[in-house]
Amino acid sequence: YDTKTPPYSTSDKNSFASVSARDRWPVILTGAIDDIHKAVSHESDGAKREEGKQITAGLAKLKYELQHDRQLSPLVDDGSPDIAGYNKELEQRGNPKWFDVPWLFSECYLYRRMATLFSTSQHWKRYDVFSKQKMSTFRSSRPAVLELAARYNDLTKQLQSSATSSALANASEAERTQAEQAVFSEMCEICLWGNATDLSLLTNLTYDDIQKLQGSESRKANEANILVNDFPAAFATLKQAQRSGAKERRVDIVLDNAGFELFVDLLLAGYLLQSGLATHVVLHPKNIPWFVSDVVPKDFSDLLTALVNAKKFYETPSEDDQARGVTPEPLSSKAEADLQALFGNWSTLYAEGQIVLRPNGFWTEGGSFWRLPATAPDLYADLKDSELVIFKGDLNYRKLTADAMWAATTPFAAALGPMGPGSGVRVLALRTCKADVVVGLPEGEDERLKGMEGGGGKDGPRKWAWSGKWAVVSFCDGKA
Ligand code: F6P
Ligand code: MG
Repeated sequence: YDTKTPPYSTSDKNSFASVSARDRWPVILTGAIDDIHKAVSHESDGAKREEGKQITAGLAKLKYELQHDRQLSPLVDDGSPDIAGYNKELEQRGNPKWFDVPWLFSECYLYRRMATLFSTSQHWKRYDVFSKQKMSTFRSSRPAVLELAARYNDLTKQLQSSATSSALANASEAERTQAEQAVFSEMCEICLWGNATDLSLLTNLTYDDIQKLQGSESRKANEANILVNDFPAAFATLKQAQRSGAKERRVDIVLDNAGFELFVDLLLAGYLLQSGLATHVVLHPKNIPWFVSDVVPKDFSDLLTALVNAKKFYETPSEDDQARGVTPEPLSSKAEADLQALFGNWSTLYAEGQIVLRPNGFWTEGGSFWRLPATAPDLYADLKDSELVIFKGDLNYRKLTADAMWAATTPFAAALGPMGPGSGVRVLALRTCKADVVVGLPEGEDERLKGMEGGGGKDGPRKWAWSGKWAVVSFCDGKA
């Protein structure tokens, strides 16, 4: 079920794969080692401490093997069905070494291998070495969180009384739809750039401000960085479903990162539900700590807990604050009320079953989504029931396109393979580019970007696509 187009490999010195394996992964492993080491040193239970030390040693061994270009060793069986698949693939690939192995597979293996150290333990089964980092990053996005919470609450009020909205009271159906599409694009853009966590890119959301916004220089500048923009097609799909009068209209979000990105994903989910563009939103988290910051179910509850206890969350000095002798600014009562309202809104949607979390082991397997229809038939059938499946972030895009070395002008639909035309799944990728693979660009665009400063040069690596500065929003309707 894999593409014949060769995948990016850690052996390719001209790709971000090589930089990742040699420079980035050792740093990530060092961070994980530091985290568990600290947790162990605070642990009073002797047996748990001992086991924690063994896990630390296991992580150090993994780092050693990586840095010394050893073979990827078979995963220890922790009772999960995906282990056999990983080990079979290692064998089929001829027991590759770290610096000459497909990037996508080896990076998935890295996180799966880390997870086995915890899952096979007695006392650390559910420990997430990345959890503290995820929460502290979320905490530091406080200004944007507060601003967006206020705007979301305003939008909620406007949607609840949209019939009487001053700006649209006398508008025609076409004008209303146009205004609605503009808000949809705004919400999706916020959700998209949340993946780059580039807070300067966030813009306004109100109906009344749309005109002003469309003229705004900053928004135009950001939009110019969206190299492919299929938001209109995605909106048309949801609008058509809404007009069909279907009672249940679902949108799925295959989540990426926790913290701020999950926050903006929930803003989008809430907006879709309150605007009537969807009746249900299904969120797909990961089962294990994954690519450092991906959402596991606990991150969802941690986020809601932070909102409901916002004062405590934002005003308690972090370890870092303590080290620097900084006292966090108190939260204003307006900000606290805004976060409470947001919490109330989201928890109602969740309690009423309009927002649902649906984990699946497929998301943390080692292969691309080309394998989804054949190897995860239940998940495949489920996604076909959705009006729109939104795949967030870089890794999901790599998995959709099999992380293969496509020409940049390859149509997105062609790069999706079995998830493309005829799949029956309506795919929308919201991706800020942090890896080499890019498809769907017009002729000459890749060359233009490579020619820009830091872009990689004419025959050099596709460096412009590594930083998250550029984005692609690609849609495929899944029809034959
Ligand atoms: O390309 C760098 C990288 O860290 C990849 O390992 C991974 O595909 C991606 O970025 C993670 O980003 P995201 O959270 O957007 O999937
Ligand atoms: Mg991620």
